[in-house]
This record gives sequence, structure tokens and C-alpha cells, in this order.
Amino acid sequence: MTAYSLGPLLYEGKAKRVYATDQPDLVAVEFKDEATAFNAEKRASLAGKGERNCRISALVFEWLEARGVSTHYLGVEGDRWMLVRPVKVVPIEVVVRNVAAGSLCRQLPIAPGTPLDPPLLDLYYKDDALGDPLLTEARLERLQLVSSGQLQAISELAMAVNRGLRELFGSVDLELVDFKIELGFAADGRLLLADEISPDTCRLWDRRISDQSDRIMDKDRFRQDLGGVVEAYGEVLKRVQGVCPQPRVYR
Ligand code: TMP
Repeated sequence: MTAYSLGPLLYEGKAKRVYATDQPDLVAVEFKDEATAFNAEKRASLAGKGERNCRISALVFEWLEARGVSTHYLGVEGDRWMLVRPVKVVPIEVVVRNVAAGSLCRQLPIAPGTPLDPPLLDLYYKDDALGDPLLTEARLERLQLVSSGQLQAISELAMAVNRGLRELFGSVDLELVDFKIELGFAADGRLLLADEISPDTCRLWDRRISDQSDRIMDKDRFRQDLGGVVEAYGEVLKRVQGVCPQPRVYR
């Protein structure tokens, strides 16, 4: 018996479906097995990915909540469903980079693997049709997406998430190279961490492995055709489960 029933599909993204429920303050998220990269030019269905990402995300949200980060997360149900508070998503992809990789190394003369201290905060305008362009402060101001106070709150939240994630992943020998988060405003105006945090949205390198391809434990395995994507996500889940309690079941 669950305390809600599923309503209409509100939104279908590349990796998740979001449904209304019969409760106005509750939204249900289904994690899909579909994987996309390079703005969905590359696609595949990877059996078991949705379930692993749902579980990892749930444990990560609970870990962050325990460290003072407010999130949309309320609980899980079954293998691939997460219950969350509805938010108005801020159309900004917030990326924090601890080690140079990915687009940073394609766009700037920075060698992959270069430590970034202090971490680099990059903001992108969330719009697939435009290819999620990098934002500057002036562009942000021009678009009036957020106030300067909200921007300050967003960067503080991103850095708090980074500290929490480095603590979590570091404790299980996973190096947090970089990650992307999305934020949203709840009905009461609170800024909440939203979306998901999983190997789809983080770069994680296994500190127990020195080989530069073999150590990749995230969606770069899919982007670079390295194989073993779901197996790597499963290993991330296993390690995180080793230091986290069971996720709470939404009732
Ligand atoms: P990037 O190096 O491609 O800019 O990616 C930085 C981080 O953001 C990396 O951990 C992967 C994540 N990311 C997403 O979650 N979604 C995206 O659409 C992109 C481009 C990156």
C-alpha cells in the first residue's frame, strides 16, 4: 500500500520520467535505462542503469541532507522510483570541477588530470537546442534567470554539495573529478538540490586502479565506448552502500 497514486506524465527527459501524483506536494520520478551522450547524438539502452542510478542518487541525497544540504528528495519506492518535492527547475546546469577533464580540456589548454584547487564552478544555460552554452556573469545578468543573491546561494550550495560528495566518494576510494547538478525552487521559495546525482552526472575515478581507462567508473565509459558501463555503476553503488544506511522507503 502506498500513500499516493500516480498521476499524468509531466515531463520525459533523456534519463527520467516525471509524473504527477494525487498529492500536489509530491512528484514521482522513474529512472530509465536509456543512456545518451553528446546531446543525445549517441543513445543506448543499458539494462539495470536506471535502478543503479536511482539507488545511488537516493543514498547521495540522504548523505547530503545529513550534512545540511536541502534537496527535493523524499524517499524511494521499488527499484527505480524516487519520490520528490515538486520544484521550479532553474534552467542552469551547475558544474563543479575538482580535476580537469571533459569539455574543460577540449576548450582550454589544461591537461586532463590537472588538479583544480580551488574547484572550478562553471554554469551552463540548460537548453538542449542551444547545446547548453557556457554562461558568463554578464550573460546571466542579461537573461535575468536568477538574482545576484540567488546566484550567491547557488554557488554556496554547489560548493557544499562538492564537500559532501568528496567526503562520501573519497571514503570509498572514488575520486570525484567533476559533477553536474540542477537546482530548483520549492513552493515555499527554498532553493533545493534537484534532479539526480549518479555516475551519469559525475566523473568518478577508481583510486584502486591506475590504468587511465580502467579507472573510469562513470558515463565516460559509455561516451568513450569502453564497455562495462552498468558494471561500473554497480561497483559505485556497492561501495556507497557500504558506508550508507538503506535508503528510506516512501510511504
Ligand atoms: P563536461 O566535461 O562535459 O562539461 O561535463 C562536466 C560534468 O557534467 C561531468 O561530470 C558530466 C556532467 N554532465 C552532465 O551531467 N550532463 C551533461 O549534459 C553534460 C554535458 C555533462
